[in-house]
Amino acid sequence: MQTGLRARDAARRATRELQEAGVPEPGASAEILISELLGIRRGEISLYEPPLDDEQARLYEAWIERRSNREPVQRILGRAYFRNLVLDLNEETLIPRPDTESVAGSAIEIIDRRGGGGVVLDVGTGSGAVAISIAQERPSATVHATDLSKKALEAAERNAGENSAAVHFHHADLFDGLAILEGAVDLLVSNPPYVEAGALEKLAPEVRDWDPRWALDGGPDGLLFYRRIFEEAPPLLKDGADVVLEVGDGQGESVLDLGQDAGFVPLGLREDLAGSPRTALLRWDG
Ligand SMILES: C[S@@+](CC[C@H](N)C(=O)[O-])C[C@H]1O[C@@H](n2cnc3c(N)ncnc32)[C@H](O)[C@@H]1O
Repeated sequence: MQTGLRARDAARRATRELQEAGVPEPGASAEILISELLGIRRGEISLYEPPLDDEQARLYEAWIERRSNREPVQRILGRAYFRNLVLDLNEETLIPRPDTESVAGSAIEIIDRRGGGGVVLDVGTGSGAVAISIAQERPSATVHATDLSKKALEAAERNAGENSAAVHFHHADLFDGLAILEGAVDLLVSNPPYVEAGALEKLAPEVRDWDPRWALDGGPDGLLFYRRIFEEAPPLLKDGADVVLEVGDGQGESVLDLGQDAGFVPLGLREDLAGSPRTALLRWDG
């Protein structure tokens, strides 16, 4: 990127480059990256007068090249925004999605309905997005979180610390070795891997090439983790425990049916902000 350009001109030029490279929503990427580079809000770009210095121009050019190669903006920056949180990412954390914000919201509503406290378990926590949001927004809850990836848990622990949230993290294959939580969990929440194995290669390059495969792969029909959760969770659940699960497009009814077959009471589906059924709600009545 040429030195001496103003932010708006640099972003305009970058938008053209990204468009030529076939990047979706090129203007959004160019603007987010320039505003993060300069520490300004997106709405301030056109008003920002100081020209880019050498170092800023070099860095912006490098970022735009990475984005042209379909690296997601959050990977380039190494962080993502989720509800009230700024979360550090590493190569083993999924980028938390806006859809999942509504899943965390449903969990928080249930905590409130249950009287505010209780023991919450977030299974497959990744960057910690859901667990940390719950712990930060409802500090009266005791929040536990698991992941199979030690590296993801390192990021999640750091994120909890940086956001002053108390979360107990466990390295576990789903519920393995969580004897301390036996019969203790009031609310189970999870955004498990749910992409059909055969569809992984068809995902957008930003997802296919940059999110960890094991964070996406839900087995041949995408439902493997729901079956495992319904089969393996009951020893940890209190009678009357609530279960809040993110589901993929078109999976909602199947997930409720699987839960019912395993002895859970299906309570229904909640939509995300885009109006798609995104959260399955169930109850364990023992
Ligand atoms: C779809 S990601 C969700 C991450 C995070 N909760 C979020 O919403 O951004 C699924 C997560 O489950 C974890 N995972 C995959 N298999 C697991 C297993 N057998 N036990 C525990 N966690 C697992 C992955 O490492 C990943 O962090």
